[in-house]
Amino acid sequence: MKVALIFGGKSTEHEVSCLSAASILDNIKGHEVLPIGITKNGEWFYTKASSDDIRSGRWTELEKQPVSIDLANKEFMCCGKKLDIDVCFPIVHGRNGEDGRLQGLLEMLGVKYVGSGVLGSAVCMDKITANKLFEAAGIRRAKWFPVIKGKNDRMDEIRSAAEKLGYPVFVKPSNAGSSVGITKCFNETQLQKAIETAFSVDSRAVVEKSIENPVEVEVAVMGNEDPIASHTGRIISSNDQIYDYDAKYISGTSQTLIPSGLSREIEEEIRQTAIRAYTYCGCRGFSRVDFLIDKNGEININEINTLPGFTSISMFPALFIAEGMTYSELIDRLLKYALD
Ligand SMILES: Nc1ncnc2c1ncn2[C@@H]1O[C@H](COP(=O)(O)OP(=O)(O)O)[C@@H](O)[C@H]1O
Ligand SMILES: [Mg+2]
Repeated sequence: MKVALIFGGKSTEHEVSCLSAASILDNIKGHEVLPIGITKNGEWFYTKASSDDIRSGRWTELEKQPVSIDLANKEFMCCGKKLDIDVCFPIVHGRNGEDGRLQGLLEMLGVKYVGSGVLGSAVCMDKITANKLFEAAGIRRAKWFPVIKGKNDRMDEIRSAAEKLGYPVFVKPSNAGSSVGITKCFNETQLQKAIETAFSVDSRAVVEKSIENPVEVEVAVMGNEDPIASHTGRIISSNDQIYDYDAKYISGTSQTLIPSGLSREIEEEIRQTAIRAYTYCGCRGFSRVDFLIDKNGEININEINTLPGFTSISMFPALFIAEGMTYSELIDRLLKYALD
């Protein structure tokens, strides 16, 4: 098949996306790949750069051809010709790529693509919406409330609501990713600054109770109508408060544990809950579902990532590799789900 591998993008996760794409390019077997990179300014280019140049970000400085769209014929165009594509693998993490926007564009063009559609992507990217659906599905999570700029953003009200939850609390932009704009607050004096920080990223925010010293575990789920779940993997963050951007991608000292060492019962409960959340939120193709286990052993869902990191050592692939699949087979499975 001819696979358009779309990577990069305008979000804060641009670099991670390049790493994911380079890994896919190195390991995809039996297909012709058309790499399409999106710069940090949002410009689209067809590139013949090597995986190493994509990984390092150098591809933007090499020869590349602008990609355009011919809406009359519903085709991607390059150098005056249509790009012949059977299926797209958009591995663009974060805003614009993971939130349904890119998926909407692909829908308009009638292109089949890996991963969730417009609704599932948008729902999971937006914490207020996702939390509401988790509640509707009866899935436990940390207690929380939404704060909407210009609606219920009076500080005295936020303070008293946070007081009810009990400190510490996390303040998060509803729609962001990569821990950007997230603050952990230990008292009410930190709250105002945290709300401002969240509002600098999005006009909607969530305040939620902190699950102290949580066991942070992640599950890989894939499939369409009958999704399957991997076993769990555990995150040991190098930053003891938040598994943040630095801990995830920069300092490199965070550890992942596969298997996570949980009891059979908890493991099974988490896997079933992950599938339930995936289905309820309208996910398709694949997603990584993240949980926080509290000190009483209660499992709490945190979020679903519809386009999780996808290097061969990222949690999503690593979890299915631990089940006996190869990274190349996993790519093939996802392409097959896209065609289905
Ligand atoms: N309620 C909470 N209790 C404890 N830790 C939390 C809570 N919410 C988030 N965290 C920590 O902060 C990290 C980032 O939060 P998350 O909601 O996953 O944001 P993002 O969407 O940016 O990944 C989590 O991986 C976890 O380490
Ligand atoms: Mg997260």
